[in-house]
Amino acid sequence: MTRADLWLHGVRLAELTETGERIDLRWTPEGAERHLGQTVLSLNLPVTEPDRPPHHRKVRPFLAGLLPEPQTAARHRLERRLGTTEVLQLLKRSGGDVAGAVRLSAPGEQPGVGSVEHLSDDDVALLLTDPQAAATLGGGSSDALPGVQHKVVLRSLEDGAWGIARHGASSTHILKPRNGPLSLELEAFGAAVSAEAGLTDTPSWIQTIGGVEALVIPRYDRHVQPDGIVRLHQEDMAQALGLNADDLGAKFQRGRRYPSLAAMAGKLKASGGDVEPLARLTALNVLLGNTDAHAKNHSVLLDERGRARLAPAYDVAPLLSFGTTRFALDIAGHQLVDQVDRKALESELRSWAGASSQRSIDHVAAAIDGLASSTSGVVAALPHQLLDDLRTRAAAFTAAHRGRTGSAPLT
Ligand SMILES: Nc1ncnc2c1ncn2[C@@H]1O[C@H](COP(=O)(O)OP(=O)(O)O)[C@@H](O)[C@H]1O
Ligand SMILES: [Mg+2]
Repeated sequence: MTRADLWLHGVRLAELTETGERIDLRWTPEGAERHLGQTVLSLNLPVTEPDRPPHHRKVRPFLAGLLPEPQTAARHRLERRLGTTEVLQLLKRSGGDVAGAVRLSAPGEQPGVGSVEHLSDDDVALLLTDPQAAATLGGGSSDALPGVQHKVVLRSLEDGAWGIARHGASSTHILKPRNGPLSLELEAFGAAVSAEAGLTDTPSWIQTIGGVEALVIPRYDRHVQPDGIVRLHQEDMAQALGLNADDLGAKFQRGRRYPSLAAMAGKLKASGGDVEPLARLTALNVLLGNTDAHAKNHSVLLDERGRARLAPAYDVAPLLSFGTTRFALDIAGHQLVDQVDRKALESELRSWAGASSQRSIDHVAAAIDGLASSTSGVVAALPHQLLDDLRTRAAAFTAAHRGRTGSAPLT
C-alpha cells in the first residue's frame, strides 16, 4: 500500500492511498472547509465532505494523467522496480513538478522546497539527447510532464544558463529535442500562429544548446515573481472528462462519444469558462491541419476557486504534409481531413451554444495567412511549398464560406 498527501495552493487538500490498481482519495477537513463544492483540483472531482469521497474509478484517471511520458516513466519504473499499474509510487518518485500546481508529500509532511542546480550547456545537450542520462544527471529532478515524446523541463536562471529543479523546486521551461525532419520548425510555427490568433502569449523558439537544437517552450503554468515561482493549476481534457488516456480510442475519439469537443465546451461552460477560445483553437487545428489535437493536447487552467478557462495552446503543428488523413477529434461527426470543410467546422462550433463560429474561422484564417506571408524567422525556416499549401488551405476555408453567403458577416 502507498500513501501520500496531495497539496494544492498551500492547502493539504486530500489523502491518497494506492492498493493494487485502486487509488482512493479522501478530501481533508481543511480542504473541504476551504473548497467544498469547488472543482479546484479537477473538473471531474469536485471537493466533497471527507466522509463522502469520490469513487476510486474517478480518481485514477486524474492521477495517471499526471504521469510522465513513457520513456521517463519506464526509467523511473526500472529504477524503483515498479510494476506497470503503480501510479502513486511513480508520481511520488517523479512528481515534484508535475503539470499544474499539484504537490505530493509523504503523509504528514510538507511538500519539498527542493533546490536548483546549475547545468553546463553540455549537460543540457546530454539531457536532450539521452533520456537515460536524466537518471544520473537529473536524479530526483522534476521531469514529470505527460506527452509522447522525450522532453526536458528546466529552470531558466538569471545568468542566462539553465538549471535543473530537483525534489520539488519549480521549472520554468520545457525543452523538446528534434524528433523528426522539421519537427522543431513546425511546432515553432504552430506556437507563433497560436500567438497570432491570440491563443498564447508565450511563443516558443528554437535554440542550440551545447550543439543540440531544441524547441524552448515557456511554461504558462509557472509565473516568475520577484519572491519566487507561482504554480498555476491546470489539467488536460482527458483528466477533466475522467478518461483513461492510455486508451488511444478515448484519447483520439476513435468511434467513441468521448472525448468530444462539444463535451469539452460543455465542461468549460459549466465551470464559468468562455468557449470562444476553444472555438478559435479548434478552427486553428483544422485550418492548420494539426491532426494530433487529441484530448491531452487541450488543457484548462483552474483558479483557486475552481473556475476554468482554456489554457494557452500547446503542441500545435501543421502536420498534413506528413500524409496524415485523419483529425484526432470529431468535427461535426467527421475525422477524415477531406470531409472536414468549412461547413463541418461551422456546424461543430455552432453546436456549442456561445461560440461565434464564423468569426473564429475568419480570425484564424487571417492569422495563418498573415504569418505565412511574413518574413518572420519561424516562417523562413519552413519550405515555400508548405507555406503555400497552408495559405491555400486557409483561403479555401474563407473562400468556400464567401462563395456560399456572398460575404463574411461577423457573428
Ligand atoms: N507551455 C506549456 N506550459 C505548461 N504546460 C505545458 C506546456 N506545454 C505542454 N504542457 C504540458 O505538458 C504536456 C506535454 O506537452 P506536449 O507539448 O503535449 O508534449 P508531447 O509533444 O510529448 O505530446 C501537456 O499535456 C501539458 O500538460
Ligand atoms: Mg502532446
